[in-house]
Amino acid sequence: MRMFFGSWFVLILLSRGTLGIQDGVDARFELWSFMASLWINGHHECGGTVIDNRIILTAAQCVADIPLKNLSVRVGTVDIYKGGSIIAVTAKIVHEKYRELNNDIALLWLKTSAVSDRVAKAPLTIKEPAEREFPSNAGWGERQLESYDAPRKLQNGVTKIHLRKFCSDELIETIGDNLLCSYYTQNDICPGDYGGPLILGNKLVGIAIQGHGCGYVNLPSIYTNVFHYLKWIDDNSKKIRKNK
Ligand SMILES: *[C@@H]1O[C@H](CO)[C@@H](O)[C@H](O)[C@H]1NC(C)=O
Repeated sequence: MRMFFGSWFVLILLSRGTLGIQDGVDARFELWSFMASLWINGHHECGGTVIDNRIILTAAQCVADIPLKNLSVRVGTVDIYKGGSIIAVTAKIVHEKYRELNNDIALLWLKTSAVSDRVAKAPLTIKEPAEREFPSNAGWGERQLESYDAPRKLQNGVTKIHLRKFCSDELIETIGDNLLCSYYTQNDICPGDYGGPLILGNKLVGIAIQGHGCGYVNLPSIYTNVFHYLKWIDDNSKKIRKNK
């Protein structure tokens, strides 16, 4: 335990002050018009992505334990407290084998279409991102660990894809093909960003699921690998459309 606290102390001293989505900048909304804010009990809690007129892709951790009547989605605005539209969620499918860092993926069905002149669908990737590619992330999450300072305006940043072995070694956890490993100085995903998109070449490649102390500790962050779940997304989009 002493060792543990000792290393935390050193990490705290070494950590630089960062701004987030870690060190994010105001996003140009026209580039993120598929971005959804997921509200639980009237508060922004997570991100999500419009992938079809009435379907939002998000993380299972955001919605697994939440009844439908407590969920809604805001789309079409860069400012989460103003503009766009708030749409009720009337069905959800959480991956049947979801557990922490595994199958962290879910679909939401909206009461009305999210797509408008201000909201577009994000195309899903057709290939996996490669090592050393630089995808972008975005969200309304906290700027700093436990600062409770969440931005009103959507923030976005850039991260870098690494080999899964890098993440497995750094995190001492098995990072399999269903996950993406990313790390880039001064970029992290924070509470409030989870469920949100990772974009490369205008395609959705990942779902934000785990950062590391909101940039506090220099460790990689983890995304659900959308490419790995293309069939699950397709099968379950059909299912949710039919059973809504
Ligand atoms: C859902 O909302 C009800 C009130 O409408 C509340 O009592 C309940 O705690 C909420 N459930 C969750 C899991 O947030």
